[in-house]
Amino acid sequence: MINKVKKVTLAPMEGVADVLMRNLLTSINCYDLCITEFVRVVDRIVPTHIFHKISPELKQGGFTNNNTPTRVQLLGQEPHWMAENAVKSIELGSHGVDLNFGCPAKAVNKSKGGAVLLKTPETIYQIVKSVKDSIPDDQVLSAKIRLGFDDASLLDEIVSAITSANANQLTIHARTKRDGYNPPAYWHHIGEVSKNHDIELYANGEIWSLADAKKCIKEANTANIMLGRGALATPNLANVVKEKEKKMPWSELSILFNHYAQLELQGDKSFYFSSRLKQWLRYLKLQYPQAESLFNAIKLMKNKSDILKEIEKSY
Ligand SMILES: Cc1cc2nc3c(=O)[nH]c(=O)nc-3n(C[C@H](O)[C@H](O)[C@H](O)COP(=O)(O)O)c2cc1C
Repeated sequence: MINKVKKVTLAPMEGVADVLMRNLLTSINCYDLCITEFVRVVDRIVPTHIFHKISPELKQGGFTNNNTPTRVQLLGQEPHWMAENAVKSIELGSHGVDLNFGCPAKAVNKSKGGAVLLKTPETIYQIVKSVKDSIPDDQVLSAKIRLGFDDASLLDEIVSAITSANANQLTIHARTKRDGYNPPAYWHHIGEVSKNHDIELYANGEIWSLADAKKCIKEANTANIMLGRGALATPNLANVVKEKEKKMPWSELSILFNHYAQLELQGDKSFYFSSRLKQWLRYLKLQYPQAESLFNAIKLMKNKSDILKEIEKSY
């Protein structure tokens, strides 16, 4: 029986798990891989500067500052252009390519990308096959799906489409598009997939603690997981689920948070300084009451030095 977590991937999280957060989280955890925010593919080759903006890691061999490999995620619906951009991602230094078939955003779904593709497994097959046939054999092709659009009735067909197109890995966010982000996650569906299909599986959804991870790997029948919001709420969660350490205490986290604030100040999004800090605190307060107090203290503040003073007070 599977009872120990093996590989842990940091989930792609648009607008949240950017390069700064990826560098921070990989500096304190043993992640096996990070997936970038998505690169939107429509009907052309995406310019290099966009790839570099989404994944500055590409300029350093596709690794975070702490040498964790990073994989570019592509979101699109045109097999030919997905393949061309997959090849480009790899040429630029991405460690394999990840395909997004789970994005619930209305604009993306309207133009037939993301989760809406879960309604047409045949299109998923065409995209995966076109990408797989175009990239070098030694590069990993992974796909990320939800259980389905409205329900899980097409799950088996979707997975068959992905495996028969020879993808190497599959991450399943164990909810449908309709479920959104509402708990619970239905990990047992991944368990069924693991029995019927031969592909390296990663289970994703609602893993907030070691206990959740243990329950998830058991039900999903795979030792590999992807961490999303839980990784933001408990910053050392990857090491916690690998049983390397306990949940980080607030005394350590407050220093880490101050460090993050300094990095945000220097970063190219420093214009959004206060909103970036509040965004992370919204996740941290799910696990740390002190983060809630800090959030309340800074929530109306605009001035950067006032905010930094308040952060220092929270040590
Ligand atoms: C703010 C946010 C942004 C996300 N952006 C992406 C994305 O760009 N690509 C993707 O495949 N999934 C995206 N997701 C989904 C996550 O990767 C993950 O599948 C989901 O959050 C479930 O995992 P969790 O319950 O551990 O958070 C996003 C989720 C959140 C909360």
